[in-house]
This record gives sequence, C-alpha cells and structure tokens, in this order.
Amino acid sequence: DSRRDWVGRKVLVSAGGTREPLDPVRFLGNRSSGRQGVAIAASAAARGAQVTLVAANLEVPAPANLEVIQVSTAAEMHAECTRLAPEHDIIVMTAAVADYRPVTVAEGKITKEETGDELTLHLTKNPDILRELAASKRPDQLVVGFAAETEPNDEKLLARGRAKLQRKGCDVLAVNRVGWNEGFQHDENEISLIARDGSLAVRHAGNKMSVAGAILDTLAEYLRDSAH
Ligand code: C5P
Repeated sequence: DSRRDWVGRKVLVSAGGTREPLDPVRFLGNRSSGRQGVAIAASAAARGAQVTLVAANLEVPAPANLEVIQVSTAAEMHAECTRLAPEHDIIVMTAAVADYRPVTVAEGKITKEETGDELTLHLTKNPDILRELAASKRPDQLVVGFAAETEPNDEKLLARGRAKLQRKGCDVLAVNRVGWNEGFQHDENEISLIARDGSLAVRHAGNKMSVAGAILDTLAEYLRDSAH
C-alpha cells in the first residue's frame, strides 16, 4: 500500500492469544494466531502510522517497522495496554484475551498420581481490557474492538455484535466469523464493522491483509468525519 494517509497517527494494536499458566509447563490458551492483528499493525505502519504492537504468543513473525511489546498472560497484556493507551490515538484490540485464569498457579507440575481421576480447575475472571480502555478514553481517541463469533446466521451475528459494542463501549466493533475452518489460524477472514450507532459500516471478506486494508480505510473515514 503506497498511501501515506496514516502519517502522524499513533496506533496501539493488541494481537495474538493470551496463555494462562496452570503450572510451570501447562497453560489454558486459544487458537488465535495473531495474523489479523499483525496485518493491521503492518498495514497501518506501511501507511505511515507510528505503531506499537502488544503481542501475545504470535504464531507469525512480528513486522519489523514497529515497536513490539511481548506479553503472555491477560494480566501482562492488561498492564501494558493500560500503560501504553494514553500515548496512542487509535487503539485496536484484536487479541483473544482469556476470559478466565486459574486462581492459583501450581509451584510444581500437577501430576495425575497426586491428583487422581478427576481434576477440577478453579478459575477467576480476567479484567476486560477493551472495556476499561473504552471507559477511560479521551474524546479524541478511537477504540476498536473485535468479536470472534461462531454464529452462522448473519442477522444473529450482527445482533450479537451490536450488543457487544454496547457492552464494551467501544467506537467500532469488528465482528469476525470464526469456526473450525475459518478465522483463527487461517489466512482468509470475513469481518463486519459495526459503528457506534449500531449500523453496519462495512462488510469485507478476503485474506487478512485485505481485511486490514478495509478496516483502516473505514477508520480513516471516521477520523476525518469526526475531526479526530
Ligand atoms: O467479550 P469478548 O472476549 O468477545 O470481546 C472481544 C474483544 O474484547 C476483543 O477486542 C478483545 O481483544 C477484547 N477483550 C479484552 N480483554 C478481555 C476480553 C476481551 O480486551 N479480558
């Protein structure tokens, strides 16, 4: 992309999937590869933005022309995003953050010999980073959330997206259809961008780089219209 329409903008992107440790060798994780977030970060940087990527366990290489902060757990991602958010104009939270983490992390490896036939995990809720950043944002900041949904019905998918946008309080929500064979870990993606008023701003299907381009085009329009 040769357009330099993002020069002068500071963009914070979270990407990847958090890992919540159970013991020194095990974690609870998810299938997010970080591809979509990395594509957004790379394409914003290519269009001239100054980009910080908060990366959790990426399965793809991080782009070279931006600052990368490595994290692993939701707590680490929470701390870094909270610290970095005030210095950025646009915040795009693509990371799949674990909703829950184990209450205690075992000092040593959990063994089946000691545990027996059943193991009950006790989990506690992680902070909702997107919701917090949206609640404390300045009027000049634009906060974008992602929603990975498996709902096959289009209308229901959008309804879920609208409800989530309200709950999170973000400016834009990108609803991403995921499943066993789409979304996570694949290069093809399909997103619907929902605006603050609940309207469907854009729907785009394609590889993750072209989806990133479509998202940035829409955000650029928003920034122009609202004189951010
Ligand atoms: O509620 P749900 O996990 O579907 O919301 C997804 C959106 O919220 C994503 O943008 C994700 O990065 C963000 N999120 C977060 N912190 C959490 C859970 C989700 O920032 N603890």
